[in-house]
Amino acid sequence: MENPYDYIKPIKDEKRFADRKNELKEIEYVLDLTKGGTYFNVAILGERRVGKTSLLNIIAKGAGKRNLLTVMIKLDENNANLLEVFKMIEERIISEGSKYGLFPKWKDYFSQLINGVEKIEIPLLLPKIYFSKKSRGDMDVSYTTLENDMEKFWEKVNKKVDGIVIMVDESQLLARDKALLQRIRNLFETIDGYVLIFSGTPDMLEGLSEVFSPIDRFFVKVYIGPFKNKEDAEEAISKPISNMDIKFDKDSMNRIIEISRRYPYEINLISHFAFRTSQEKGENVIKLDQNVLESVTIQVQKMKEYKGMFDSLAEKEKDFITWFVEVGSSVDRTSLAEHLKEDKEDAREIKEIRNSLTMYFKRLMRKRIIEKDKTEGRRVFYKIKDPWLELYVRYGQKPEV
Ligand SMILES: Nc1ncnc2c1ncn2[C@@H]1O[C@H](COP(=O)(O)OP(=O)(O)OP(=O)(O)O)[C@@H](O)[C@H]1O
Ligand SMILES: [Mg+2]
Repeated sequence: MENPYDYIKPIKDEKRFADRKNELKEIEYVLDLTKGGTYFNVAILGERRVGKTSLLNIIAKGAGKRNLLTVMIKLDENNANLLEVFKMIEERIISEGSKYGLFPKWKDYFSQLINGVEKIEIPLLLPKIYFSKKSRGDMDVSYTTLENDMEKFWEKVNKKVDGIVIMVDESQLLARDKALLQRIRNLFETIDGYVLIFSGTPDMLEGLSEVFSPIDRFFVKVYIGPFKNKEDAEEAISKPISNMDIKFDKDSMNRIIEISRRYPYEINLISHFAFRTSQEKGENVIKLDQNVLESVTIQVQKMKEYKGMFDSLAEKEKDFITWFVEVGSSVDRTSLAEHLKEDKEDAREIKEIRNSLTMYFKRLMRKRIIEKDKTEGRRVFYKIKDPWLELYVRYGQKPEV
């Protein structure tokens, strides 16, 4: 059965998306400017869980309707560097462009490259360089390479679309390296056709010194926070159930607005449990009773505890747990090593990866985060001890797109 209040994943569906009218208006204005050949950039700034990714999802829909080729990339600890960022951008532009019949499918383009086909359809430089190198770790990408590729894309697509929108989620991760932000600015400042929409926590543009201040001017800034008006919070509560034969009790709705302080995440969290309780009772008026509040409190407490615990771990340990959860509920050294080799493109031999993991298995056993699960022959499998921690790692820390 469906519960229309999702506090875990960012919103994709306009039917569940409330308000942000002013923010959307501002951003849509920038998108409309592309028709006249003017390309501005936007930085969406907001604290965690305030609705940045959801807003990006809705903007992407609006951009699609405006005949703009739109790609979204999501940064994380491992890919927030120049090479990875542009690899993702190029791959996505080719994939999106192939839907317009502008490029071959990424897969086909890929095999043209690997097989060294003579007459390649778009003469991009980055993929070529990338494939000609065996070890990619310390590869440097030159400015001209990227400029060439971005120009080639625009030359090719501008006959069909009015612009290329590149959305970058979690872009505060670029802020650690202001020089990288500056390179991106310098690149897109000189070429036409691109609208960058960066979204991240406010520290993304904090601490820009005199040297980097042009970065600040490069973006039209849009700040998002809790819903501004009571009506907007009401919309967030009532919109998801508008096509159902069920309603919120007026007082309960007011309580939710009060308790949530109009933060969208909190609204969805509380409404989720209120909806669930009313369904269980078979009632068609949703109320905020003691039971609901208790479920919510427990949930919030758990999340806080796990956040505190998780944040206190070393970065490598966090990575380890995240990979562990990606592999499955029962994991041994070999299965984790195989996952790293395949998914994270670790160039080392399985045996070498496996050995490098031993220390983390031991350490996290000692911290009682993982425990032995089962033994099959000589292979010992482990699981995350607390299933709630597993849930937290899977869904709780950074919602997936
Ligand atoms: N406009 C909106 N209308 C209704 N609910 C929303 C809206 N924006 C966000 N939410 C709720 O808030 C939650 C968090 O939203 P989202 O993941 O987009 O935030 P975020 O700022 O990207 O968070 P993070 O910083 O952790 O990436 C969503 O799961 C959804 O429940
Ligand atoms: Mg987000």
